[in-house]
Amino acid sequence: MLIFKTQEDLKTHLQSDFNSPKSVGFVPTMGALHRGHLSLIEKSISENDLTVMSIFVNPTQFNNQADLENYPRTLEADVEKLKQVSDKIIVFAPSVEEIYQGNTQSQNFDFDGLEHEMEGKHRPGHFDGVGTIVKRLFEIVQPDKAYFGEKDFQQLQIVKKMVAKNHLPVEVIGQPIFREENGLAMSSRNERLSKIEREEASFIYKTLQEVKNQFGIKNATELTIWIEDEFKNKPNFKLEYFEIADESTLKSIQSKEPNKKYRAFIAVFMNDVRLIDTISLN
Ligand code: PAF
Repeated sequence: MLIFKTQEDLKTHLQSDFNSPKSVGFVPTMGALHRGHLSLIEKSISENDLTVMSIFVNPTQFNNQADLENYPRTLEADVEKLKQVSDKIIVFAPSVEEIYQGNTQSQNFDFDGLEHEMEGKHRPGHFDGVGTIVKRLFEIVQPDKAYFGEKDFQQLQIVKKMVAKNHLPVEVIGQPIFREENGLAMSSRNERLSKIEREEASFIYKTLQEVKNQFGIKNATELTIWIEDEFKNKPNFKLEYFEIADESTLKSIQSKEPNKKYRAFIAVFMNDVRLIDTISLN
C-alpha cells in the first residue's frame, strides 16, 4: 500500500505515465475508519481505476478546540483496515503544515444559504473549513469521482454546491449511512463512547424511525415537540437540534408540499460526544 505524506509526491505518482489517463476515485476522511468509510472505498474501487483516500484531521472545520484535540487519530490501525479491503488503495496522510503552509485559515464560501442551516448555526465556521479542505484536496488529487457518506448530509449538499459553483470537474457521490447492529449511525466519534453509551445511543435512530413512521400523520411541529420531550427524559443526552427540512434547500419546514423530498436531522450530545444522524422521510 502506498502512503504519501506530501502533495508533491502524491501528484507525481498520480501524474506518472504509468497511471495516466486512468480514472481516479477519491474518498476524503479524517481517519478513525469504520465500515461506513470502507463501503465508500469499495464503491470507489468498483467504479475507478485508482482509489485515493485522504486521512487528515482538518483543524479549520473544528469550532471547538477540545473536539479537535480529542478527535481520534489512528493512522496505523486505519492502514491495516484498508489493507483488508485492497493493498492498491493510495493513502494521502499529510500534516497540517503540509496542507496549510503556516496559515491555518479557512477561505470564506457562499453556499447559497445551505451553510446557515443546522450544523452551520451550531458550528460557526465549520463549513468554510470543510469547503477549504475539500477544495484543496480536490485540487491535489484531481479525482473524477468523490465519495461522501450521507450521515453528513448537509456536508454532502454543500460539497455538491461548491463543485457546481466552481465548475470543478468531479462527480460527487453520496452513499447511504452504515449503521451498527443496534441502528447507531457509524461515526469516528463513536470510538469515544463506552460500550454502554453505544448501546444507549441507539435511541437516536429509534426516535428517527418513529418520526419517519409518524411523518404522514403528524406535522413537523408536533414531531419536533415529541422528540424534544423524548430527549428530556434521558439524562445522558442533550438534544442540540432536531429539524425536518427540505432535502435540497435544507430549510426547516412547517407543512409538506407535493413532489418535495424531506429529511429529519438531529444533533445530540451523549455526555460530551456530539453525534448527528439523519433519515429520509419520503
Ligand atoms: O466528513 C469528513 O470526514 C470531513 O468533513 C471531510 C469531508 C474529510 C473534510 O475534512
